[in-house]
Amino acid sequence: MSRELVPAPVGEPEPTAYETLATQLELGGYAICSHFLLPEEAAGLLDEASQLWKEGEFRRASVGRGSDRQLRTEIRNDQVLWLDPLDHTSSQSTYWSRMEGLRETLNSQLFLGLFELEAHLARFPQGGYYKPHLDRHRDTQTRVVSAVLYLDPDWTEDDGGQLRIYSDRIAGVQGPSFEIFPEPGKLVLFLAGEIWHEVLPAHRPRHSLTGWFRCRDAGTT
Ligand code: OGA
Ligand code: MN
Repeated sequence: MSRELVPAPVGEPEPTAYETLATQLELGGYAICSHFLLPEEAAGLLDEASQLWKEGEFRRASVGRGSDRQLRTEIRNDQVLWLDPLDHTSSQSTYWSRMEGLRETLNSQLFLGLFELEAHLARFPQGGYYKPHLDRHRDTQTRVVSAVLYLDPDWTEDDGGQLRIYSDRIAGVQGPSFEIFPEPGKLVLFLAGEIWHEVLPAHRPRHSLTGWFRCRDAGTT
């Protein structure tokens, strides 16, 4: 697909890959990197996620924040496990270091003032979905850029579970959209408060590592 960048980070990431992602994000509000992680790196994360799932570490994901927080399985029915940004397992280390490189590039190129990454593993069950939404909570503006990394190998058209992006920032769900296949090692970035998106029904369990680059709360700067 011509929209997808293929900067293939073999060994060390190429600095130009981060710069290209930043440029795409600036121009269109979203960016796609087909090979942000190698297949074996994605496989390591999937093994870890599967193990933690078996151990019962995931929790049903909610909608909203603070006192607004609710379980709304008609909107989303995935389960999540938040990662500890200060205590990485070995299979997470490449992810965190690449995301740090990306954060620095987004800041130097786009002046976004991103200062931290919050990230969770997510598992959509067979029949899982997440209806159209924005990623920025009503009561806080701190999530600036969403970053979804896919983990499952051998994903086919019949498996569903595509990420649908509504590419027109003004028209939102009334405007044009396109779909992205959740292929292992692929990273999708988009502006958390501006790009409407949804997860179409998945016909097999679907795993991702989803993060948000945050800026400081206006109240605390
Ligand atoms: C989310 C989300 C997209 C995906 O977790 O907020 O929109 O493709 N995920 O998993
Ligand atoms: Mn989302």
